[in-house]
Amino acid sequence: MPLKIAVLLSGSGTTLQNLIDRAGAGELDAQFVCVISSRADAFGLERARTHQIPAIPIVRKDYDTLEAFNAAIWDTVRSHGAELVALAGFMSLLHIPDDYENRVVNVHPALIPAFCGKGMYGHHVHEAVIEYGVKLSGATVHFANNIYDAGPIILQDTVPVLEDDTPDTLAERVQAKERELYPKAIRLFAEGRLRVEGRRVRILDPQ
Ligand code: GAR
Repeated sequence: MPLKIAVLLSGSGTTLQNLIDRAGAGELDAQFVCVISSRADAFGLERARTHQIPAIPIVRKDYDTLEAFNAAIWDTVRSHGAELVALAGFMSLLHIPDDYENRVVNVHPALIPAFCGKGMYGHHVHEAVIEYGVKLSGATVHFANNIYDAGPIILQDTVPVLEDDTPDTLAERVQAKERELYPKAIRLFAEGRLRVEGRRVRILDPQ
């Protein structure tokens, strides 16, 4: 049975598109049960509609409190029967309920715990990496918890930071790495091969 995935995003949805493409290519046994966007105009919703995936905007300002906004998200996730929630450029803080603990994954465009946390998303990350002068950056896939970018790490890999890099050229290299790592991590989850032990994620051998 394919893994039922809800994707949460706020932007253009290239991360979603990669997951859809990988599933289409037979590299990921997944069914995308819904795409939820925190912005009504996110192009990611359009991509979902193109692939006949229910595309649902849930916008923070339509709710009086953060709790009500979160409740609307989780009600939707549950009602679509999602077994895994994949964050794909989702830019609001989520409170993860107990029944989805270790069932929410995120991809971050740097090597956590460096260049992460509140305000560190998209291009801000690559600008900070270049500014600091580190020689390596990369991508991280991790379980999300209730603190920005702080949950147990599933997979990480590096890319070089080149002398003449701009945030755009570095982003391109990091995103290529994300496109490999994210489906790989989700595949490991689908195969039941991820065991969370405190902060560490043990990757089990295939059965
Ligand atoms: C991705 O590069 C992802 O790593 C980043 O947002 C981008 C989403 O692009 N996520 C974060 O920075 C999370 N802190 P997309 O909207 O085109 O999928």
